[in-house]
Amino acid sequence: MSSLWQTIVSLTAAASLMVSGAVREAAPHQADGELMLVNRQWYISGDYTPELRTAKVNGQLRELTPEASLALEELFAACRQETGCTLTSVSGYRPYDKQVRVYNNKLKRVHNSVEETDKYVARPGASEHQTGLSIDIGQKNAEDSNLGASFARTRGGRWIRENSWRFGFILRYDEGWESITGYEYEPWHIRYVGKEAAARIRNQMPLEVFLQDYRVEVLLRLIGADELPVPAQPLTVLAPADETGAPAEEPPEDYTDIPFSGLMRLLIPSASAEDAGWDDFDADIPWVFDLPDGYIDPSLLLPATAAHPLPEGAVPDDLTELTRRRNSEDGINLNGGVYVVTQDRPLLRREAAEALARMLADAEAAGIVLQVRQAWRSWADTKARYDRYAAAGQQADAPGCSDYQTGLAVDLVSREWSSRGLSTLFGSTEEAQWLSANAAAYGFVPRWPLGHEAHTGHSEEPWHYRYVGPAAARWMTENGLCLEEMYALVAELY
Ligand code: DAL
Ligand code: ZN
Repeated sequence: MSSLWQTIVSLTAAASLMVSGAVREAAPHQADGELMLVNRQWYISGDYTPELRTAKVNGQLRELTPEASLALEELFAACRQETGCTLTSVSGYRPYDKQVRVYNNKLKRVHNSVEETDKYVARPGASEHQTGLSIDIGQKNAEDSNLGASFARTRGGRWIRENSWRFGFILRYDEGWESITGYEYEPWHIRYVGKEAAARIRNQMPLEVFLQDYRVEVLLRLIGADELPVPAQPLTVLAPADETGAPAEEPPEDYTDIPFSGLMRLLIPSASAEDAGWDDFDADIPWVFDLPDGYIDPSLLLPATAAHPLPEGAVPDDLTELTRRRNSEDGINLNGGVYVVTQDRPLLRREAAEALARMLADAEAAGIVLQVRQAWRSWADTKARYDRYAAAGQQADAPGCSDYQTGLAVDLVSREWSSRGLSTLFGSTEEAQWLSANAAAYGFVPRWPLGHEAHTGHSEEPWHYRYVGPAAARWMTENGLCLEEMYALVAELY
């Protein structure tokens, strides 16, 4: 098997595993479980309430998840036995509304400085205490040190640093991790992650860093590979033509000057802890991909919307005509072509065209026949269409704001839907469901996915797919990002 083919097969496997429920495994930080990540970037909903049990230990506010509370009992007992000192619970599970009060109290104490408050207290929804997996620990008879840096110097505090991992707990906000965790040093705040993860972490790195490597490991296992496939695509930029029609060398400002919208940030620091050293992380952009540089081609992520309209001269320089399918008498695909309906000369950027042909061939092998209903659309055609619709009092994409102008967008439908008016009902067909489960492995994502209307400003279209490349498509699928969110993220990095 060629390596490209292997990659595709592996990605197909990964995508179908994800669809079949391995999401929890592939993205444990987003699943409800021991490795769930809640931090400044990852919020949980206000009504999230874990199953709770009150730990039989000394102190107050002793509720944690059942596993964590049992582990806490072991930890307290062992500390007592090994050091003679008694730990005390200061604050375990805190529901959302309690965190509102904790946050507001701190805010008052620091004269309403949000900046100062944010250094110490998580905003409601961003506190690990709401997961029932975290607890602030103090030492009995050393109460002056409780919730203070000096707790680290108490006997109990020192013991916790050395031993908490044995019981499945980690230090969450150690000294020097501020740019990653977002919080000041808290030697008293421990977090349950289970014994296996805690033994690997052993208080040597923040949970965010551990999860970076862990997720790559899981992903490799899912796709059965030794290393992440790195196709290192050359960066092809959608170059607009100059007056002579030749593509300009440099894209104009508005292509590259991509503002970060702050919609979404991911959890992963850019390099591993050893490579970079904590201090090297830029506090303003601590979160980047856990994928190698160059793996994701940002030019494939350009939206073509009112917020980022494409200029009139923006014509992809690698538009390729889709090969129309020629069949043998018994329906065998003689030329590797695709079925095309309703468009005279269907064009797509080369990479997208090739991926599309592979995808449709594999779909057919799985008994799913898809047809291309719309591909590249020029600025002029978009304008003509817009004018026509406007004359009839209807709305359509304004010139420069059509996804089809990127040469990366394609409408795919079943035979049954080849000429009827499109509606979201198409989403319940076998064909649409096959696409939704498999398109990412070929580099395609739904351009207007359900549930992301607030970001895309567009209602769901289960037939409209957009080529973004397999790495980005997989990433977006895994993390539930729409193009706008992915674009905001990538724009921050390039
Ligand atoms: N003090 C930690 C960050 C919290 O409020 O959850
Ligand atoms: Zn805490």
